[in-house]
Amino acid sequence: MSKISLDRLLQSQGFGTRKYCRELIDDGELSIAGEVMSSYKTTVETAGLRFSIFEEEWEYREHIYIVLNKPANFECSRKPSHHPGVLTLLPEQFSWRDVQPVGRLDHDTTGMLLMSDDGPFIHAQSSPKRHIPKVYVATTAEPVTEELVKKLLSGVQLHDEPAPLAAQTCRPISDRQIEIVLEQGKYHQVKRMLAAAGNHCAALQRTAVGQLTLDSLGLEEGEWCYLTQQQMALLVPM
Ligand code: URA
Repeated sequence: MSKISLDRLLQSQGFGTRKYCRELIDDGELSIAGEVMSSYKTTVETAGLRFSIFEEEWEYREHIYIVLNKPANFECSRKPSHHPGVLTLLPEQFSWRDVQPVGRLDHDTTGMLLMSDDGPFIHAQSSPKRHIPKVYVATTAEPVTEELVKKLLSGVQLHDEPAPLAAQTCRPISDRQIEIVLEQGKYHQVKRMLAAAGNHCAALQRTAVGQLTLDSLGLEEGEWCYLTQQQMALLVPM
């Protein structure tokens, strides 16, 4: 159980500086259980707290854990240079809270992107030591052959890696589509592995992380949702 003053509450939830949050409260923009809150010094219990700001309802969250179905032509970097950043697809409060992608997808890769403002969670999910499988569906420029699958499974040498990298599992889906499961998250890894195996990645989608699948979330491209406890529990090795 923890109590917090209303100005700190709004600040912690990403509504701006403490000064601005006090102004919002002074202006009568914050309501709790239908009552307009007039003093920023009032303290409230955070567990299960719901509040309305500009008549939009929010739930208190100590941390944000979300999944975005990333569309193409958005960058994961903090300082995007050629395309808008993925944060532009989310409420602006999330930028104030320093919500960041867990690992990165290329600007032209679509699919499942976890995002959070919880540093230890981001670190744990990105750590290669945890061997969390990431599932990709690649559309290839050349036909998917048995030889391609064999090469990806036995390991291909990328020019800046000390040892060959292999897919954990890999299966053809159609003539030009292949599912590749990786435990590592090296730079452009799927594209570089396909190129090293003699093919070319024409399009790439991440369809699962751990045991959590994009399909189970029912998100259109560009849509996001908060992760439930049950979904969080699926973000582990299979
Ligand atoms: N591998 C790639 O080549 N690109 C991504 O975005 C993710 C994995």
